Amino acid sequence: MRYSIFASLLSAVTTVYGYANPMACTGICTNAHDPALIRHKDGTYWRFSTGGKIAMHSAPAITGPWTYKGAAIPSGSKINLAGRNDLWAPDVTLVGSTYYLYYTVSSFGSQNSAIGVATSTNLKTWTDHGSTGITSSAGKNFNAIDGALYWDGSKFVMSYGSFWNDIFAVNMANPPLKSTSGAANIAFKPSGTHAQEGPFIAKNGNYHYLFFSAGQCCGFDKNRPARGQEYKIQVCRSKSATGGFVDKAGKSCTNGGGTTVLESHGYVYGPGGQGVYYDPKLGPVLYYHYVDTRVGYADGMKRFGINRLNFSSGWPVVV
Ligand SMILES: *[C@@H]1O[C@H](CO)[C@@H](O)[C@H](O)[C@H]1NC(C)=O
Repeated sequence: MRYSIFASLLSAVTTVYGYANPMACTGICTNAHDPALIRHKDGTYWRFSTGGKIAMHSAPAITGPWTYKGAAIPSGSKINLAGRNDLWAPDVTLVGSTYYLYYTVSSFGSQNSAIGVATSTNLKTWTDHGSTGITSSAGKNFNAIDGALYWDGSKFVMSYGSFWNDIFAVNMANPPLKSTSGAANIAFKPSGTHAQEGPFIAKNGNYHYLFFSAGQCCGFDKNRPARGQEYKIQVCRSKSATGGFVDKAGKSCTNGGGTTVLESHGYVYGPGGQGVYYDPKLGPVLYYHYVDTRVGYADGMKRFGINRLNFSSGWPVVV
């Protein structure tokens, strides 16, 4: 694509020179698929990731050194579905003095899925509560995986979904252990295999930003897709957390819209599984997993990535 001099001058430096690289990461920076990030009030950072009954790592700083802290749900989920001893796509939110950990029970390519929830007061030991009520089976227009809680201080909304009709939002009860009503389709790619999943809603200023991962997530060592078809992180925004999301060009997110925030660049390949954390020191950060092409493309090699986000233009830019 050719940029006019005008557009180049107006663009952030990161657009002209490509995307900023992830911040440094030391210690165990693999075992980081679909990460969730939070900071305990004692200053310790905790990272949760797919597999190993939700692998936990902690670190004294956001950049590490990260050490393994065991499984969040060591006996597996109460949810009686295939995958109850694996568990995917964690999301963690502090509400009052209780941490809520959402996780997925499913198996690859199957719609026999549910989003479960566990609680903790210390991030280390968790009590499983089983299903949130967000479930799916063959014939439904969604796959009940990849849940992420949005909380604005009064209202709880869970975004979730993967393929089929892609991404949905549903209201959650208070406390946010169960879904209530109003499931709505909030993002959909009408073309191809509808490869879009892993939503995360974050508020900044007057807008709710719906981040999601578009493209092929996994298996890059065995089956690398055509260039540009691998995971990338996109965003739409709305004044509401439960619908009306559009991209930067004004295209509806339910009709294929999505402005790219981060995609393959340099040694970074297929970034996705993202979330946003408001760090007390760094401000908003985007956390995600990516393949480091200097190391290898296997799923087990995926690394933990963090970049600060700059929302000053009204749209998030990685810096
Ligand atoms: C955010 O981006 C704007 C340009 O859109 C720039 O002027 C500003 O300095 C950036 N802020 C930070 C903290 O990087």
